[in-house]
Amino acid sequence: MAPHHPALTPEQKKELADIAQRIVARGKGILAADESVGTMGKRLTQIGLENTDEHRRFYREILFSGPEVMKDCIGGVIFFHETLYQKAANGTPFVQMIRDRGIVVGIKVDTGVVPLAGTNGETTTQGLDGLAERCAQYKKDGADFAKWRCVLKIGHHMPSHLSIIENANVLARYASICQQNGLVPIVEPEILPDGDHDLKTCQHVTEKVLAACYKALSDHHIYLEGTLLKPNMVTAGHSSTAKYTPEQVAMATVTALRRTVPPAVPGVTFLSGGQSEEDASIHLSAINKVPLHKPWALTFSYGRALQASVLKVWAGKKENVKAAQTEFMRRANINGLAAKGEYHPVATAGSAAGESLFVANHAY
Ligand code: 13P
Repeated sequence: MAPHHPALTPEQKKELADIAQRIVARGKGILAADESVGTMGKRLTQIGLENTDEHRRFYREILFSGPEVMKDCIGGVIFFHETLYQKAANGTPFVQMIRDRGIVVGIKVDTGVVPLAGTNGETTTQGLDGLAERCAQYKKDGADFAKWRCVLKIGHHMPSHLSIIENANVLARYASICQQNGLVPIVEPEILPDGDHDLKTCQHVTEKVLAACYKALSDHHIYLEGTLLKPNMVTAGHSSTAKYTPEQVAMATVTALRRTVPPAVPGVTFLSGGQSEEDASIHLSAINKVPLHKPWALTFSYGRALQASVLKVWAGKKENVKAAQTEFMRRANINGLAAKGEYHPVATAGSAAGESLFVANHAY
């Protein structure tokens, strides 16, 4: 049983642990701007814009060229492949803009979900073929962490044993390949909010899924200090009629994490999962206030909950760019406070702040 074949050298471990710590330094979280071309198209359509390369580039420039203080609350930005090689209008590569601010560049490396035959619409995530080569190239091109999203569903006999085991294993295999290539893997087993289940059911399923993930990560010799976890918060299903307070959501979430996530993991960066911007911030702040020992940084890696108001304010018009950037910074600051348990909501929320961002069976 002795580890005769260490997976990583002490230098590799140190590099990975340092990257992970930088991303989740106190009061910092992640901007998930890795929407695929198709998903970005849906966002652009909502504001009446065509899904062109230039519109996607222009929008990402709004996010990335915000004020310098962005670095105080954003520790990492997740890019989509296309964006990693795009430039600002002045010719500066996006990667350089982000790195120059001391923010860590991440890259989505999975290639999407595919059906698990013989299940009730459950999925696994693909993208392992050629992954080592892609990771090596992304590292050269400025990325220091990666994201891979797996999806699990709650329903009658779901998630199935097959889906739990398969998704845990593919996440561990991905994590191993990332670490071999100097990228910190974000392990994301997202349990969808679709359904009418209660809070307890979501907590139970979250515990089972996370326990399976950490067993698989151990089996694959993953260096946990050089990883981050990106889970769902524990919430009731989107169509549940039961209502829970932020404190109840926070307690269920922290309890599930304490039962399953080793203290060696430096940070938990929650996805927003269709919650409104305000709910995602209020819940994160409540999570950080739970009066139990929490050995990891508990912060955000939000896509929709950092961008909905920004898109709305921009509305595809050049004259709104500054206002959209102000909106982005406001939301990022609020989440930076929430990551310290210090967000106290005020009446003046953003233009999409209270709107549900739920999308059934959400793809990324
Ligand atoms: P949401 O915050 O929109 O759920 O997305 C985060 C993400 O990166 C999902 O993979």
